[in-house]
Amino acid sequence: MLSWDDTPGTTTPEPMTATAPAHKPATKPAPHPAVIQQAVSDSPAAGATGLENLEMGARRIQVDDKKIINCRADLNQLVPFKYKWAWDKYLSACNNHWMPQEINMSADIALWQDPNGLTEDERTIIKRSLGFFSTADSLVANNLVLAVYRHLTNPECRQYLLRQAFEEAIHTHAYQYCIESLGLDEAEVFNMYREIPSIHDKAAWSLPYTQSLADQDFHTGTPEADQRLLRDLIAFYVVFEGIFFYVGFVQLLSFGRRNKMVGTSEQIQYIMRDESMHMNFGIDVINQIKVENPHLWTAEFQKEVGAMIREATELEIRYAHDTMPRGVLGLNASMFNEYMKYIANRRCAQIGIPALYPAAENPFPWMSEVMDLKKEKNFFETRVTEYQTGGALSWD
Ligand SMILES: [Fe+2]
Ligand SMILES: [Fe+2]
Repeated sequence: MLSWDDTPGTTTPEPMTATAPAHKPATKPAPHPAVIQQAVSDSPAAGATGLENLEMGARRIQVDDKKIINCRADLNQLVPFKYKWAWDKYLSACNNHWMPQEINMSADIALWQDPNGLTEDERTIIKRSLGFFSTADSLVANNLVLAVYRHLTNPECRQYLLRQAFEEAIHTHAYQYCIESLGLDEAEVFNMYREIPSIHDKAAWSLPYTQSLADQDFHTGTPEADQRLLRDLIAFYVVFEGIFFYVGFVQLLSFGRRNKMVGTSEQIQYIMRDESMHMNFGIDVINQIKVENPHLWTAEFQKEVGAMIREATELEIRYAHDTMPRGVLGLNASMFNEYMKYIANRRCAQIGIPALYPAAENPFPWMSEVMDLKKEKNFFETRVTEYQTGGALSWD
């Protein structure tokens, strides 16, 4: 039985009482509860999971018992809050609730079906963006649920992760809704991450980080394992949601700025606001882990993180060139060389490492306007986009 007073290595699993079955069972029998208990506590240093046996009359949780990783206190008690920022983000995310079907796609459908509505280059951007994003959000959700969730040992952070996981489902839904509305070939779009090299390369870059954590034998609690968790958090929150989404965001929002594909652009505007919060939550988690575990943030590890961000920035620049071989919508691929370097510098600053490209400037200052959650009117001035408490969005 685990309690927050347990010291590493003192857990004694309950004795096994099950006897061997007289006949060979057709299916593998369910493990005895004691075996499960052993499985959740078999790493001497790993934190709790929230599924440990209850200890009647155990000492009540104190704020100081809470830790973001490797916490051994009961994980089913949301309060007292230690990380108010996580709870505040959970509340903001709930106030930002939206659903893809609330957005009118009729102008997009008409434009897409009009043979002269869009150029071939514009159509390529729409298809490649939907191809990348439609599988990317599933990948992010799977990382959250199957890899990250288990290792963040704090209830208020887990509360936010549960909300984020639902938002990732909404994003995948939004892409499917666009694909279906436009009548695109679903198999072509959903297979792009296995068929289009620049899309494949981004997904493939991130997979080893999540695979490493999703391994059932993986437990945090050693400097090496805790650094593996940090690498996954950086790969998904800083790189995937903070770098790999940004060429697509700029491209799709540029359609809306030119009054084209306004429904798709509006979906992206909502998604980008969610993603910005996901990334900021991840950065808060990373920085909190650093505060509580400064021994993990070695010079060598920081160098490795810088190399990860540089590699990812190059992949995203390559993606920009691939989706935009010629200038279109007032954009060209070389603007993205500059923009992605500018974004990479911002990400470095947010996690406290030196800028990789100190001279880079932002060629798309309008992007920060779109990110402003306080703005009352949306980009295309069609509706109020400040999110409403209670789930309903009001229309102009
Ligand atoms: Fe998402
Ligand atoms: Fe996300």
